[in-house]
Order: sequence, then C-alpha cells, then structure tokens
Amino acid sequence: MEDFSKLITVRRSHRRFTQEPVADEELRLILRAALLAPSSKGLHNCELTATRDKKVIGHLAQCKAQGADFVVEAPVVIAVVGNPEVGDMWVEDCSVAATMMLLQAEDLGLGACWVQVRERQDQEGRSAEDNVRRLLDIPQGRRVLCLIALGHKGMERKPQNEERLHWEKVNGLTG
Ligand SMILES: Cc1cc2nc3c(=O)[nH]c(=O)nc-3n(C[C@H](O)[C@H](O)[C@H](O)COP(=O)(O)O)c2cc1C
Repeated sequence: MEDFSKLITVRRSHRRFTQEPVADEELRLILRAALLAPSSKGLHNCELTATRDKKVIGHLAQCKAQGADFVVEAPVVIAVVGNPEVGDMWVEDCSVAATMMLLQAEDLGLGACWVQVRERQDQEGRSAEDNVRRLLDIPQGRRVLCLIALGHKGMERKPQNEERLHWEKVNGLTG
C-alpha cells in the first residue's frame, strides 16, 4: 500500500486467521520493520522470537487467563522482548517495534494482533511472562512485553471510523 494515511485507517486487530502459511520473506519483512524502529539512545532494546510451532503456539494461547485464546489459530507468533540490563526504556522500545510490525503486516495484507504479556497472569495466577519465557527458551533476565499473533486474515474488518476519532483529546490546534 502506497498511502500511509490509508494504511493506518484500514489497520485493525485481526484475531481470526486462515491456515495459509506466512511466507518466509513476509515474516522477514515484518521482523525487519521492528529492527528499523526508532529507539531510545539508538539502543534498539528489543529482541524478537518468532515461532511457527503449532504445539508451542497452542501453549502460548494459554499464557494468560484472558485475551490470548485466539492465538491458537495464528500460523506465526512473535514474542517482543526487552532487556532491562541494556536500558530502562525497553517497554518503549518494544512498543514502538511492535507497532511497526503491526503496520508492516497490514501493508503486506496480513492480519496481526498485539497480545499483552507484561503484567498479566494465567488462570492459576502464574506470571504470563514466565510462561512465555519457558515456552520460547527466553533467558530469565529478559522481559516479555507482548506477543504479535500473525497470519492471513480469516475475516475482513471495517476500517477505523473517522467519525469516532477522539479529537477532543487533542489540544492546541488553531484555526
Ligand atoms: C498495549 C496493547 C495491549 C493489547 N492487548 C491485547 C490482548 O491481550 N488481546 C487482544 O486480543 N488484543 C489486544 N490488543 C489489541 C486491542 O484490543 C486493539 O488494538 C483495540 O481494541 C483497538 O482495535 P484495533 O486494533 O482494531 O483498532 C492490545 C493492544 C495494545 C496496544
């Protein structure tokens, strides 16, 4: 898509996926988008672990009590991970990187959704971060911000409704 204004209007969270595989080149472009993200002090405090393993993805869908079930359908899941030892801006760096991946996915016509992991627990009260670290062999000191569930769209979604934008939250516009 050439028009960025249109891209950010049509991008929606997608939670239904077909089982058509995501091509390696498409996945590479999405991971590249994260690596191209702006970052605090240029430290790029964001590591990525991608998996296509159906069994692992099935367990990731249970990493927290609510809001991750749909992940089970995703052909690819990417964990977005920061390292507090590198710097204190890991949440910000990882958030920007995750957003870049959501936009690149949309640009490729793929569907994606952010799944919050940090500060979340599973049904038994265990840390969702611990669950994800264990499933993806992520070292203990690392922090897991979120998962990005990714795949070919299983259903279309309407673009954002221009009428419902919260312009009242914007101050300082003149004229
Ligand atoms: C910080 C953050 C956390 C989110 N966590 C989840 C989540 O755990 N599960 C989920 O299904 N969607 C999650 N989402 C997606 C939001 O629900 C979604 O962006 C919001 O409802 C607006 O819909 P849209 O993305 O289609 O514009 C999250 C989004 C953000 C930015």
